[in-house]
Amino acid sequence: MYYKIAKEKFNKLVKNHKKTDIIILAIETSCDETSVAVVKNGREVLSNVVSSQIDIHTRFGGVVPEVASRNHLMSIANVMNQALSEANITLQDLSAVAVTYGAGLLGALLVGVSFAKALAYSLEIPLLAVNHIHGHISANYISTPTLKPPFISLVVSGGHTALLKVTKTKKILLATTHDDAIGEAYDKVAKVLGLGYPGGPIIDKLAKQGNKTITFIKKPKEKNVLSFSYSGLKTAVINYIHKQKQNNAEININDVCASFQAEAVEEVVNKSIYACKKHKINTLVIAGGVAANSYLRQELQNKGKEENINIIIPPLSLCGDNAAMIGCEAYENLKLGKGLADIDLNAQSNINLKYQKV
Ligand code: KG4
Ligand code: ZN
Repeated sequence: MYYKIAKEKFNKLVKNHKKTDIIILAIETSCDETSVAVVKNGREVLSNVVSSQIDIHTRFGGVVPEVASRNHLMSIANVMNQALSEANITLQDLSAVAVTYGAGLLGALLVGVSFAKALAYSLEIPLLAVNHIHGHISANYISTPTLKPPFISLVVSGGHTALLKVTKTKKILLATTHDDAIGEAYDKVAKVLGLGYPGGPIIDKLAKQGNKTITFIKKPKEKNVLSFSYSGLKTAVINYIHKQKQNNAEININDVCASFQAEAVEEVVNKSIYACKKHKINTLVIAGGVAANSYLRQELQNKGKEENINIIIPPLSLCGDNAAMIGCEAYENLKLGKGLADIDLNAQSNINLKYQKV
């Protein structure tokens, strides 16, 4: 019964999306941020409350999945109330509820998915399932409302390093990592250097005071291949640190950070530019937590100028996990008549980016 009503309402929204205001309450709990946002017509962010658990997980040197789930559970209702109050609306004003169903930590995702299902069911409004990675890409529509496909998107986060070709109706995977994600490499290197969690922001900061004095990967890098690998670089940095320690030799942490970062960033910059050229698309859109990296942002701007490629980078507030990007992606899907989920929606820890359901 619920699905029948939700589907009718969804179809009406799809048909009338240009004429009526669509207010989506979006929920994101895939990792260590509990976030709820209210997004109007896919572009206007009425509120975007992000409650970060970073301080809690820092004590453990990384995200502890069970702790993340418990904290999502404790804060989600308050975060939603704050989002509604900041947006100055009530539950009755909502057109639909959107939620990240994957990829991410299963227990953490389940909190958001269960909450969204209960909300959509009780309000008898459509439930919209959103792919977290696609959400990161859509964050750019909020900060650059004039952005339109086709474009190439570089997704760099704790779980992904990928290049996608985004067209009006499809997101086609062009490249992914054979092993670790770039953010994972930042976090592991920081851990071995004793810099704490998350590693990205601290390496970013220390690298500014260091020089690229060390070459970790000595063999020439393949520029014109659409795939990534970060485990070799990560291992080379860790081996270097261990060797220096064994030999009681000095470790210049700032130089290690600058050298690691230069190699890590070079890989994604070169391959992103290559993908743009290969596919004859001159707009490159960056997404994900590592898009906050100041060196990556600068290098891409420089290369973009050199190669005549328009570089779109989200503001720092939209790089990390947040629900506004989920609301925006849900709206993009809705316009195409996609994304409606039934009440049996399940969380998925992994989503093959090649699979294009939503
Ligand atoms: O997108 P995100 O918030 O969560 C995932 O979906 O994975 O990305 C988190 C990742 C972490 O690995 C973190 O270290 C990295 O983004 N990160 C950064 C920076 N800020 C966050 N990496 C490099 N430089 C930064 N400034
Ligand atoms: Zn993310």
